[in-house]
Amino acid sequence: MIPDGDLAKFMDYSIQLGHQQFAAAGLIDPGPSRPPYLEAPNNYIAGARECGQRWAILQREFGAAPAAPQAANADLFISTDPDKQIEETTSMTTTTKTLAQFDTELAAMSLRGQWVYDAMLERLIGGPNSAGKPHLWRWDAVSPKLMEMLDVMSESFTARRNVSFINPAPEVGSTTQTILMGMQVTKPGETAWAHRHPISALRFVIEGDEKLYTVVNGEPLVMETNDLVLTPTWTWHDHHNESDKVGIWLDVLDVPLVAKLGQMAYEPLGEVTQEVIRPEQFPSARANPIRPQWEQPARQVVPYRYAWRDVEQQLQRFAAVAGCPHDGIALEYANPATGGPTLPTLRCAVQSLPPGFAGKPKRKTSSAVFYVVEGEGTTMVGDIELKWGPRDVFSIPSWAWYEHRNNSSGSRAVLFSVTDAPVLEAVGLYREEAGK
Ligand SMILES: [Fe+2]
Repeated sequence: MIPDGDLAKFMDYSIQLGHQQFAAAGLIDPGPSRPPYLEAPNNYIAGARECGQRWAILQREFGAAPAAPQAANADLFISTDPDKQIEETTSMTTTTKTLAQFDTELAAMSLRGQWVYDAMLERLIGGPNSAGKPHLWRWDAVSPKLMEMLDVMSESFTARRNVSFINPAPEVGSTTQTILMGMQVTKPGETAWAHRHPISALRFVIEGDEKLYTVVNGEPLVMETNDLVLTPTWTWHDHHNESDKVGIWLDVLDVPLVAKLGQMAYEPLGEVTQEVIRPEQFPSARANPIRPQWEQPARQVVPYRYAWRDVEQQLQRFAAVAGCPHDGIALEYANPATGGPTLPTLRCAVQSLPPGFAGKPKRKTSSAVFYVVEGEGTTMVGDIELKWGPRDVFSIPSWAWYEHRNNSSGSRAVLFSVTDAPVLEAVGLYREEAGK
């Protein structure tokens, strides 16, 4: 056993030596919990090593010693150089092994030293790094493939024909790291069978009709051109095209996010269509600002249609205002029940860029997908130019600087967009930065 007085003296010596070595290097001693990217000076490491050697001598002289004093300074004794021989004082005797050997031993025990992330931490300085690449998919290239899909894809498991927009950065695997955007087509007379899933989805209609509709939890939502309809998480939904023309819409889903959270599931109804409930039972009527007083309004799961005629009316109301210097006259699709984001994971917006609009640069920690409702313009994302026209779609990665421009001096440009901002806001990670 170490006599009480000697242990206290040794600990005091160890701490003082560390402070002296750090001060000699001209640095303020940040203590044992220093930022991992801040490399300790060599003489400080040497001092720590000297402490370890003295600790080993103390052990040999007095026998077994308690582990706690070593653990307090344990990170000082490990070099981040995997090939460097290190003196390790994590056992009762001093041993020599490489960090790589130590890492291998930990891995065999399903453990991992935090130092393996040091290189990653260096790359994150100034982050977050943008996930994926900005990319534009032109309508004149995509549209023929949608029509071909009608022939080559006669019928799928769920009677749906959808093509997804995949970010060119292979590590993303979807449109952005949290959002999957696609386009779906239906032939006249077709029905896409009823099913539900934890994934939340929304449809922005490209080619609509009053006889094109989606039934969501028993409520039929008409899909006319430029309408937006919501199919929130776990809502039953089936699509019907009772018109005499092909129906096309934009699908936007939170698939990547739900998958990363390990919440993917799927449930077919077992019938092609679900029963349509009576109008007075419509969930959207119960989430309306004028709603039944005898029951709690629905909150999260509200099927809803935002008719374009209402959106256009709002755009006209605000047409004369200056709007936002970065995003123009940007209007949000608020959730009808909460007044908050459109869906818990996705926020939709429509923005009108006045003729000649040249937006100031901005970046946000959210990622976004865009659909061009009308007009022609250019969005610069970093040094990448995305020159867009009607029905093109494009993506802006997280934390990437962007600038929107309307290339017309006589007509407005209108963009519909979806972001993952609600998720980031919920966990305190949403930030924006304005440029000049
Ligand atoms: Fe679905």
